[in-house]
Amino acid sequence: MAKSKLRKSKAKPARKAASKKRGGKSPSKKASSGKTKAKTKPKPKPKPKAKPKPKPKAKPKPKPKAKPKPKPKPKAKPKAKPKAKAKSKPKAKDTARTQAAKEKGGGSSSKRRRSRSKRRRTKVGFIGQGLMGVPMAARLLQAGFSLQVYNRTPEKAKETVEAGATLAETPADAAKGADVVIIMVSDDAALDAVLFGEQGASRGLKRGAVVVNCSTTSPTIAFRAATALRSLSVRYLEAPVMRSVHAARDGKLQILVGGAEDDLGKARKVLESLGSDIHHVGDVGKAATLKVACNVLLACLTQAFAEYFVLARKNGVPFETMMEVLHAGPLDSQALRDAEQIVVNPGGRPNFYLRHMHNDLNLAMELAEHMDVPVPLAAVTRQLLATAENLGMGQADCGALVELMSKWGGVAMRG
Ligand SMILES: NC(=O)c1ccc[n+]([C@@H]2O[C@H](COP(=O)([O-])OP(=O)(O)OC[C@H]3O[C@@H](n4cnc5c(N)ncnc54)[C@H](OP(=O)(O)O)[C@@H]3O)[C@@H](O)[C@H]2O)c1
Repeated sequence: MAKSKLRKSKAKPARKAASKKRGGKSPSKKASSGKTKAKTKPKPKPKPKAKPKPKPKAKPKPKPKAKPKPKPKPKAKPKAKPKAKAKSKPKAKDTARTQAAKEKGGGSSSKRRRSRSKRRRTKVGFIGQGLMGVPMAARLLQAGFSLQVYNRTPEKAKETVEAGATLAETPADAAKGADVVIIMVSDDAALDAVLFGEQGASRGLKRGAVVVNCSTTSPTIAFRAATALRSLSVRYLEAPVMRSVHAARDGKLQILVGGAEDDLGKARKVLESLGSDIHHVGDVGKAATLKVACNVLLACLTQAFAEYFVLARKNGVPFETMMEVLHAGPLDSQALRDAEQIVVNPGGRPNFYLRHMHNDLNLAMELAEHMDVPVPLAAVTRQLLATAENLGMGQADCGALVELMSKWGGVAMRG
């Protein structure tokens, strides 16, 4: 009871303030409220005339006072004006940064402050600090989220911890109290370990939390994870990503989401800090399937590029000419540009390990078998990736297929 009274007493001034604000902004509402006040004052004028005559003598005097009172209406206006002036003054005092943000359409600084403090209140757990996990975690910290991070090899989380995250000793600790838990690990086995292992995240998750698995994993484990977490009142989204390390650093990943729309709503703000395109593909399993299909395309494109390369090089076409033709024509793509880097920058830091691509094609073959569909190019490319991995190229970039073809073709990559 006391609480409801309190709420009422707080709400009234808020409404009054709101109506005052509206009055300042909306001339029509202001005019109408002004009129009602003016009517109540002048109305008594005719009444006294009709009722006691002696009183009207006393009242006619106030009448002239009441007449000027309608003038106080303008007094009410000035009351509203100073408020407006008071608001506009600080606007004039806005910093150059605020002004620049407004010019960019960034909204008021208070609005941005509110959303930043909201993000600070959103606790995010992050599991996996590999090539992708580190720049993704950095994005979340930049966006203002409070972050607790876990990695099996803790040293790899150093950069993230130095940037402001708390280091968790176990996946369960990373999940403790978190509203959203992002997982970015290698494969199905790793996902299973960090979610359901002895000290897995499932042991630390609170009810209502959302687990977002950004790793490329199978639809099979997605169903299993979603079902097991549902029994803990935890939601599960799969959110495999397209593009690579640079896009992760710039918050420009393409994110394919599988799961309930409501659950996506809960994690959307976090995902928006990581990616520029968020595609809700459908239920759990759909996004995982689409991601695997995309990687079949990517792997086959890379292998096709490797074959283009050996054919043209062995016949003496300069590498630069081959590239000019590709970049200017309809076959240009980011996938080809990534594969090109293997030649341009041999021994450079990999962006996407060949062993992960091999794993993805294994997933594709399992899916194809299960669905009974033919994927002959994927089958051959999978074998080539397996060969490359057996030759010690697993930790190289997946563009190393070019290197393999170059060795087999007896043609130097450059020169
Ligand atoms: N790199 C890309 O361009 C790219 C793009 C799109 C999607 N992806 C996908 O994103 C995922 C991560 O890729 P990445 O490039 O970041 O791979 P990565 O550098 O190899 O990182 C893998 C992460 O998984 C952890 N991990 C592996 N096995 C584990 C286990 N059994 N228990 C606990 N943690 C384990 C690793 O921990 P340790 O550090 O202790 O080994 C590491 O943190 C993969 O599914 C990949 O296919 C990658």
